Amino acid sequence: MIQFILNNKIIKTSSNSGMTLLDFIREKEQLKGTKIGCREGDCGACTVLVGTLNKNKISYQSITSCIYPLGNANGKHIVTIEGINLTQDLNSVQQSLSDNHATQCGFCTPGFVVSLTGYVLRN
Ligand code: FES
Repeated sequence: MIQFILNNKIIKTSSNSGMTLLDFIREKEQLKGTKIGCREGDCGACTVLVGTLNKNKISYQSITSCIYPLGNANGKHIVTIEGINLTQDLNSVQQSLSDNHATQCGFCTPGFVVSLTGYVLRN
């Protein structure tokens, strides 16, 4: 049994631990904001945050979920773009991208937002 928190939801699953976290997020949980691009860890469209508890402090790292086995999520906090979105407004990272016209077609933008959010959390 693999257990973790996905955004604000407790997940307990017996899914194949070798499936990618990306496929679990999109197909089992129907969270389609995490995009599929290259599927080999290069483009970043599938970026999510992985929170790890260490000495009563949680630290977040951005990872490419297309090459991250579901089993590695055990005991972690996984945050997707849906977990970062606010209900009414853009968050500060999204607002900054918008203010600076920093998106192109938008397909990769969720990955950019998640990655930049991870950077802000670490710094
Ligand atoms: S889909 Fe391109 S890095 Fe994951």
